[in-house]
Amino acid sequence: MQKAFDIALHSLAGGISVAASEPEFLHGAPERGTFYLETFGCQMNDHDSEKVAGVLLSRGYRQVESIEAASFVLYNTCSIREKAAQKVFSRLGEFRENSGTPKKIGVLGCVAQQEGEKIFHRSPWVNLVCGSASYSKLPELLAQLEAGETRVTGLDTDTDETFETELTRRDNPWRAYLTIIEGCDKACSYCVVPFTRGPERSRASDSVLSELKQLAELGYTEVQFLGQTVNSYADPLSNKMKFSELLRAAAEVPGLRRVRFTTSHPRDFGHDIVEAIESDERICNHVHLPVQSGSTRVLRAMQRTYSREEYLEKIAMIRAARRPIAITSDIIVGFPGETEKEFEETLSLLEAVKYEGVFAFKYSPRPNTPAQSMGDAIPEEEQSRRLAVLLELQRKIQSEANEKLIGQRFEVHVEGKSRKENQWSGHTSCHRVVNVSSTQPDLLGKYISVEVQGATPNCLVGAHRFEEPAG
Ligand code: 5AD
Ligand code: SF4
Repeated sequence: MQKAFDIALHSLAGGISVAASEPEFLHGAPERGTFYLETFGCQMNDHDSEKVAGVLLSRGYRQVESIEAASFVLYNTCSIREKAAQKVFSRLGEFRENSGTPKKIGVLGCVAQQEGEKIFHRSPWVNLVCGSASYSKLPELLAQLEAGETRVTGLDTDTDETFETELTRRDNPWRAYLTIIEGCDKACSYCVVPFTRGPERSRASDSVLSELKQLAELGYTEVQFLGQTVNSYADPLSNKMKFSELLRAAAEVPGLRRVRFTTSHPRDFGHDIVEAIESDERICNHVHLPVQSGSTRVLRAMQRTYSREEYLEKIAMIRAARRPIAITSDIIVGFPGETEKEFEETLSLLEAVKYEGVFAFKYSPRPNTPAQSMGDAIPEEEQSRRLAVLLELQRKIQSEANEKLIGQRFEVHVEGKSRKENQWSGHTSCHRVVNVSSTQPDLLGKYISVEVQGATPNCLVGAHRFEEPAG
């Protein structure tokens, strides 16, 4: 799998030291047990873990960095593809030998929601199974375990408590994630998300905006709106705000310099979003707009609700914007019945769109999904071949596009410091990773102007220019 935009930042992650902001309520909470929390999967899961940590810290639990030091071991899991789910079970398997351990083991997130109590049968040493809509119940569930119960669950799917974020313990002191819509109603035929995260629920715009003000006051300068289908946002207030209006209002919050959003669904992507990006530089010029396949027949079988041509019309609309907007995508190769010709249509779509980044996956059958019972499975080796061909093409496209940026200037939000002296890392507004050299002392959290001097398919390399960023 290619992680087009995040590679450089991930490789830096070991060297980054950021002070996680501790919420005020921590002071005076009674000292309880310790917990170790490991996260698998996407940004939504990263953000869910921030919520879990916040809830537990508020009750006096202490977070530790090793399993050995923990009284509770918690895995926040992903089940989007079988491999991700398997990884969780292999982690759980490590406790098999030691199943008499006094440690309490908990499975949170999508695998918990999908497998439910079956996890207790498969891994009998697990004590807690809890889905993402029940995290505020965690202290209660941990207390039950401390009181001697051996198996507890929280498996609701349709609650709004996922928006109760005042306890969130954010990992990054400058960029804050904010869920504005939870769940998914789109029913793509291959996807477990509608089962694991439940139906779409949007957070009221006044509550989003008041949290943004608090975040700006705390020093956050960048926010990222999260949702499986973020642009399907439907404000529950009577004087409803459209998604594009919410973006504009967010950008107006004093102190915020960047507003991002992910993931957009092509069906609900309208020109008003492009206009919002054009009209306000604080709204980031990057759209993640997964296509999944370049073949209309496969798109129909995937229940994606648009054809190749309709998708390309959306792309043309975005590319025509007065301000250049980077577009990234998700692709699935080897969907049941995908012919060689249909796969080639995906390749030709990549050539036509010239995405700035792509996440590509081999189709993986998931429980309860309509695609699971479709015939004509594509053999694993053929899926691997298609994936390799696609990634090689995309690498070439990104390499050519990034080379053309040499000599240009970008504003970079510095979010990481390398172990190497005078080396920093951050993102442009269009979400390219940039590795920057600068002799300036403390750049973390700052917005700096960078001249691009080199390029690889996945990142830019540049030098800090001290004058104010150009546009
Ligand atoms: N198999 C492979 N990839 C999948 N995705 C979702 N479900 C599956 C599946 N069953 C991919 C889609 C989605 C991304 C988050 O994961 O491309 O956009
Ligand atoms: Fe899954 Fe489709 Fe919903 Fe995305 S839009 S979360 S792929 S069902």
